[in-house]
Amino acid sequence: MTRADKLLARSGLYTRSEARGLIRAGRVTIGGCTVSKPEDKFPDGAAVLVDGSEVNCEEFRYFMLSKPAGILSATDDSRARTVLDLFPPELRRLGIAPVGRLDKDTTGLLLLTNDGDFAHRVISPKSGVVKRYLARTAVQTGPEDAEAFAEGLTLADGTRCLPARLEPLEGCRCLVYVREGKYHQVKRMLAAVGKPCLELRRESIGGLELDPALGEGEWRELRQFERSLVFNSSVYIGG
Ligand code: URA
Repeated sequence: MTRADKLLARSGLYTRSEARGLIRAGRVTIGGCTVSKPEDKFPDGAAVLVDGSEVNCEEFRYFMLSKPAGILSATDDSRARTVLDLFPPELRRLGIAPVGRLDKDTTGLLLLTNDGDFAHRVISPKSGVVKRYLARTAVQTGPEDAEAFAEGLTLADGTRCLPARLEPLEGCRCLVYVREGKYHQVKRMLAAVGKPCLELRRESIGGLELDPALGEGEWRELRQFERSLVFNSSVYIGG
């Protein structure tokens, strides 16, 4: 159970004191009842309406973004644009943050949420969530690279990687599947086999694919079943 003003402020649309004003003015309905006291408590999932229009007051929110190149996967930066700049102020106010990072020049699927436990579970190598990347390399990859990835690469600085999967495609492109998220991991793995990466795009996280309807820089809220899809991948990459 949560206080009415706190529940309404979760929308990001109103501050706690604005929420109190709306409630005292009789403009807020929660779970079908018009609320007059901000301190009255309601179940977390109750429908909240302001002036008859429903407002999303869920505690945790989850978004997928089609990240464009040239934008930082950070919450704020004094000089550069960040992925948060692609969201409206009421959602930025909710404390959403990227789940892991994509490099500035990497495009594709980026999740954002204010649910720290969810983010941790997605990122932790222990969860085994496999991320699929489409890479364009300077040199065509082949079966020998697939073998090296499957064995578990050692990067130039001695870092050991978990076994991963590489599928060569036509035209100097390949798919790379990894289940950890070390700094510049895919680029460094490709460099380690002498196939420098020229372009990188994340296509999926676990069983969740980037929605092809999203243009670069566009985002949408995840549906509930999509949250579980993240932990529901059928790709086996060994190890
Ligand atoms: N690996 C990289 O090298 N860069 C990314 O942005 C993501 C994975």
